[in-house]
Amino acid sequence: MNIILLGPPGAGKGTQARRLVEERDMVQLSTGDMLRAARSSGTEMGKRVAAIMDAGELVTDEIVIGLIEERLTTDNAPGGFIFDGFPRTLAQADALGALLTRLGQELGTVIEMAVDDEALVARITARATCGDCGEVYNDITKPIPEDGKCLKCGGSDFRRRADDNEESLKKRLLEYYKKTSPLIGYYYAKDLLQTVDGLDSVEGVAAAIAKALKAAE
Ligand code: AP5
Repeated sequence: MNIILLGPPGAGKGTQARRLVEERDMVQLSTGDMLRAARSSGTEMGKRVAAIMDAGELVTDEIVIGLIEERLTTDNAPGGFIFDGFPRTLAQADALGALLTRLGQELGTVIEMAVDDEALVARITARATCGDCGEVYNDITKPIPEDGKCLKCGGSDFRRRADDNEESLKKRLLEYYKKTSPLIGYYYAKDLLQTVDGLDSVEGVAAAIAKALKAAE
């Protein structure tokens, strides 16, 4: 089943997507990860998007739709695709619908991860990620192990994102409310929306997502 995880920055989309990949043979399509890979590879496109991302603004629809189209047409996803951080605008949502139809696929469900803004500031400013395998840590809820080695891959290259500061987060939140939150109504009207409590523990959110996936089967 193809699904969208929808929610503001720090809602826990990446954390839950990684679990679904491990547990259900799904493929995570995170436009944020794709854009970070592009910027670190130093391509022209990467250079163009770096400043936009650090400022907390949205990259153009054309670029992200192109990235998603490329992956959707080349990747094999036996358990379905998880769209994480995409779509983020109504134009992206329309483009995804058209793309899936063209490929003879459909969207199974859209899971909104509801959280409050104060929790997001605390989560985002405490986040660290393993640079080798992408495992997500949090200084408060899931600290980097004392031996300095990633629990998943043993790597020791932990990174903090340039946009994970209070100022960028405020901008990212503003972009979310202006451009992405209308998607909640968009998918509700298409009978695809389900909402889970993103403030619950990681385990609790995972259980609520499992229930939502069952309901959409
Ligand atoms: P992107 O990488 O997509 O960032 P985001 O949407 O801002 O989301 P985050 O990755 O910050 O948060 P998350 O929801 O994945 O939370 P996580 O699981 O890490 O986008 C970055 C930028 O790229 C954008 O600003 C934009 O410029 C550009 N971009 C990307 N896609 C685009 C698009 N489609 N169109 C245009 N531009 C685009 O969790 C956060 C923290 O909380 C972690 O520390 C984690 O351990 C912790 N945590 C998670 N769940 C819980 C829980 N239940 N309880 C306690 N702590 C938790």
